[in-house]
Amino acid sequence: MKTLLITGGAGFIGSNFVHHWVKQHPEDRIINLDALTYAGNLENLNGIEPSENYRFVHGNICDADLVNTLFEDEKIDHVVHFAAESHVDRSITAPETFIKTNVHGTFPLLEAARKYWANDTRRRFLHVSTDEVYGSLEAGDPAFTETTAYAPNSPYSASKASSDHLVRAYFHTYDLPVITTNCSNNYGPYQFPEKLIPLVFIHALEGKPLPVYGDGKQIRDWLHVSDHCRGIDAVLQQGQPGETYNIGGCNEWANIDIVHQICTRLDGLHAGEKPKAELITYVTDRPGHDRRYAIDAGKIMHELGWKPEYTFETGIEQTLHWYLDNQGWWERVRDGEYRKFIEQQYKSLAG
Ligand code: NAD
Ligand code: TYD
Repeated sequence: MKTLLITGGAGFIGSNFVHHWVKQHPEDRIINLDALTYAGNLENLNGIEPSENYRFVHGNICDADLVNTLFEDEKIDHVVHFAAESHVDRSITAPETFIKTNVHGTFPLLEAARKYWANDTRRRFLHVSTDEVYGSLEAGDPAFTETTAYAPNSPYSASKASSDHLVRAYFHTYDLPVITTNCSNNYGPYQFPEKLIPLVFIHALEGKPLPVYGDGKQIRDWLHVSDHCRGIDAVLQQGQPGETYNIGGCNEWANIDIVHQICTRLDGLHAGEKPKAELITYVTDRPGHDRRYAIDAGKIMHELGWKPEYTFETGIEQTLHWYLDNQGWWERVRDGEYRKFIEQQYKSLAG
């Protein structure tokens, strides 16, 4: 039995990873440390029964005392570090929390691992990062590999790049058994409804404008979140300390084509209504908007035998049905109902 400290396990990818790990490794213990920011939602963890093998800790990764106590009390074997401020648009309007959480917050985790693991080479510190640290590609450029130079362009990607460098330094300086994964854009269940795919889907359902930034021809490489979780699992179990692994779906789409795909699928479900594509509305572009991301996932595929299980067709179909079947979930997120629950649940911890 191993004990995993999962940070940010109430967010989109973290909660999918908790579900994945409990199913695949029921003998292991999970400590889920999450500050429950706007992006953290305990409803994402419904079905994870209170059990001896699972503990939720409401707290901040920047709190070094709390992090040290968790390492001390829970005898943490591995860290899977998801907790971050993750939304590019929010990083443009309010960058400070990105620096605090993504940069300052990674430091106490690394320090605690260094202190409590004392060069135990069986441990792993898996730092979950993004392809956005590599910057922007032009059409025809080769996809990002693990050796592509970092060139972050937004406060979000710059803060993730900073934390990646810190993680790397702990391997080279202290032999801490760290591994970093850089993944492309995820989609799937529990994604916060201000991100492109859930936002377009929900707006289209409700007959609201579908905002497309700039000319809509920016390209992203989309991966279903459950394939990302399987990739992290493979890296945690078989990856080499000090290495980085790119994870991606070989699945490049222009934003406008994604929006059209969603519209067409919804038109199929709502025959006779006005075509959803009539709702598409071009809006002012995001400042510094990266044009194209594409991941070369050859290393994780060849070295660790990972490959995506979902095609984009099966993945988007599964995701749209999840949002249709879980209307209550996104309505509660949107109207802030879930925040009232958090306030009630944690009033004992308030100031
Ligand atoms: P998210 O915003 O949905 O979730 C982040 C979680 O971290 C939330 O539960 C939040 O409450 C928690 N958190 C935030 N600040 C915290 C703090 N100071 N202390 C403790 N908890 C805190 O993000 P996500 O989309 O699930 O992304 C998870 C990780 O994966 C991030 O590190 C992100 O950079 C990386 N990533 C995301 C994508 C993507 O497409 N979403 C792609 C590649 C990499
Ligand atoms: P997003 O889901 O915010 O992810 P990221 O910025 O991390 O790639 O956006 C995906 C792409 O969709 C990105 O190119 C910005 C674009 N976009 C829109 O065109 N309209 C929108 O309303 C949103 C949220 C994003």
